Amino acid sequence: MTDIAEDGRTWLLSGPGSGYALHLTAADELVHLHWGPRITLADAEALAARPLPAYRPFESPLDGREEYPVEGGPRFVRPALSVRTGERRGTQWRFVSYDTSCAASYAMAYGTPGGAACDASGEGGGEGEGDGLRLRFADGGLAITLHYRMRGEVLERWVSLCNGGDASVELLRADAATWTLPDREAWRLSRLHGRWAAESRLVTAPLTYGEQIIGSRRGHTGHQHLPWVALDTDATEERGEVYGCALGWSGSWRIAVAQLPDARVQITGGAGYDDSGLLLLAPGESYTTPVFAGLFSDGGFGGASRAWHAYQRAYVIPDAGRDRPVLFNSWEATGFGISGEQQSGLARRAAAIGVELFVVDDGWFGARTDDRAGLGDWTPNPDRFPGGLKPLADQVHGLGMRFGIWVEPEMVNPDSDLYRAHPDWVQHQPGRRRAEFRNQLVLNLARPDVQEYLWERLDALLSDTPVDFVKWDFNRCFTDAGWPGEPYPQRLWVDHVRAFYGLLDRLRAAHPGVAFESCSGGGGRIDLGVLRRTDQVWTSDNTDPLDRLAIQHGFSQLHPARVMAAWVTDSPNTQLNGRVSSLRFRFVSAMAGVLGIGGDLGRWSAEELAEAARWVGLYKEIRPLVQRGELYRLRPPTAGLGAVQYVLGDETVVLAWLQAQHYGEPVPALRLRGLDPAASYACRETGEVHRGAVLLHHGLGVGLKGDLDATVIRLRRI
Ligand code: DGJ
Repeated sequence: MTDIAEDGRTWLLSGPGSGYALHLTAADELVHLHWGPRITLADAEALAARPLPAYRPFESPLDGREEYPVEGGPRFVRPALSVRTGERRGTQWRFVSYDTSCAASYAMAYGTPGGAACDASGEGGGEGEGDGLRLRFADGGLAITLHYRMRGEVLERWVSLCNGGDASVELLRADAATWTLPDREAWRLSRLHGRWAAESRLVTAPLTYGEQIIGSRRGHTGHQHLPWVALDTDATEERGEVYGCALGWSGSWRIAVAQLPDARVQITGGAGYDDSGLLLLAPGESYTTPVFAGLFSDGGFGGASRAWHAYQRAYVIPDAGRDRPVLFNSWEATGFGISGEQQSGLARRAAAIGVELFVVDDGWFGARTDDRAGLGDWTPNPDRFPGGLKPLADQVHGLGMRFGIWVEPEMVNPDSDLYRAHPDWVQHQPGRRRAEFRNQLVLNLARPDVQEYLWERLDALLSDTPVDFVKWDFNRCFTDAGWPGEPYPQRLWVDHVRAFYGLLDRLRAAHPGVAFESCSGGGGRIDLGVLRRTDQVWTSDNTDPLDRLAIQHGFSQLHPARVMAAWVTDSPNTQLNGRVSSLRFRFVSAMAGVLGIGGDLGRWSAEELAEAARWVGLYKEIRPLVQRGELYRLRPPTAGLGAVQYVLGDETVVLAWLQAQHYGEPVPALRLRGLDPAASYACRETGEVHRGAVLLHHGLGVGLKGDLDATVIRLRRI
């Protein structure tokens, strides 16, 4: 809901438990008033009546107080908007108008490609009237519109820019939003840091003067950071104020957290990493930033995560009410060495243990017998699949499972028919060496002919073979990101992402029964933008069940278990560390997300297969809670004993993992959350009845011992 003061210059957006207010001064300075718990319009007006501090030598009163600091004028903070024309640099805007509509460019902000042209009204229609705020400014011919939309407790913000002048405007930097925190002492900054096979690990450290920058200049979201930050002063998992910001963009990006000289804190984020040029806007062209969403919670880190999860399930993830199936993926079992016959053997075993979706990973197409050839040639390898993929798909369907395939459409091996025919279709700088990673180059998806080729190939693939699931991979970063003949700054960084989104959107529309998984060498492309058009993500190539707990702990800060794919693979772990662990431990680790099996079922004994079938059966029982329930992180996995709990209606399930028991010390009871203290709960495992108040205040014994032990405990309210 949006409240507006009578003078039309103070606005208040409210969610169920949070509020956000801003004010336009008589000099058209847009100042931030409030982000935090709900307040009234009268409160916002009282804040607006407070005068800005006076100008002092060497300090600007605007710094740390503006909603969207532009470059130019009396400001010294990092600008969210930096533009230049042939004549001058910077922005000096005047306010034009406001309304409470917000949906007009929303699809663009979430990356839906469409005309980059400004429309006649400058901004499009008024869909979504009343549930947001749109503030229009102008600087000469450049129209600048700030958008706000409250979605539950999450406030979405983005900006659109339209060049209505007669000369080109260079966008050096155009961030989606600047978030301003209230004055507090001793902020702490949390991030999800990582690298390949070690993604999304939570790091928290005191914030200090200066700037902390996270991001990616790799062309994709990257393994190095999820585009999320959280700030708090003294919050715990259960209590305290937490401010979070997350960006919905799958290309290069940057979030800068600045503690200014007067200790005020601002967070600015958007597409692109550098300030040296994002796009050139020709006359009549427009640019819409991605969404940079913000969340205030006074329920600690747990409350913040649950609010983020609710937001994504309601507004971001397609069809989030539908549970994801248990899948088998062939990658760790067979690598590139696949054949139709061998996949069909695996499919029979997978079906027998209850798998619902069978996915053939890399190696089924072109001359792809290793990573040196074939990428780009999206037709089944005739030696491996003489009749194409349809016979295998039919067999998989006959076994009662859905059928999925792996693709990596944005890439090409130089040893491929596609590259031999179109060497100019890759990103490259004229006269320079084309750097290969994993023997592959990046296709220039900004080119319409490349987009059309991929659309035709993928559409044909999904039309010729009854495919239900596509794992869409991306296995190298941009390096020589050039487009010979195109003027600088080149559109390819932004347009690649828009074209990727466009392909996904078009394929989803044409093949509505097909689900998509975002993968980038594991978790290299996980963000709110890709989640708008994919059903789940491949969390990490690290399938070691112990390492995974920390990765999943970090991941869950922002994203729900409903999208977090997790496989049970072989022991000793073949990919990384040779760790030996029981099937029990591997299953309970993977059951905290979207369960998959990635081990070589051909080598699992009859006993192991029978045990696996029991775990898969148990997972199917708890799946609605895991995938749709509320998550409570009872103990972080780093604490020796880690545990999560999911609550849905009258049911709750606890998944607990003991890393190592020392000195024979008893394993502590787990204090449960989200229960009714006045109710009683029956344990499905033991038949015992527990009182809610006792579970909440004294805890539940989990009966774990030794090393790498794990358990699942189901409770139902009676
Ligand atoms: C990287 C992915 O993360 C793996 O799961 C697998 O699909 C390989 N690529 C295949 O090349």
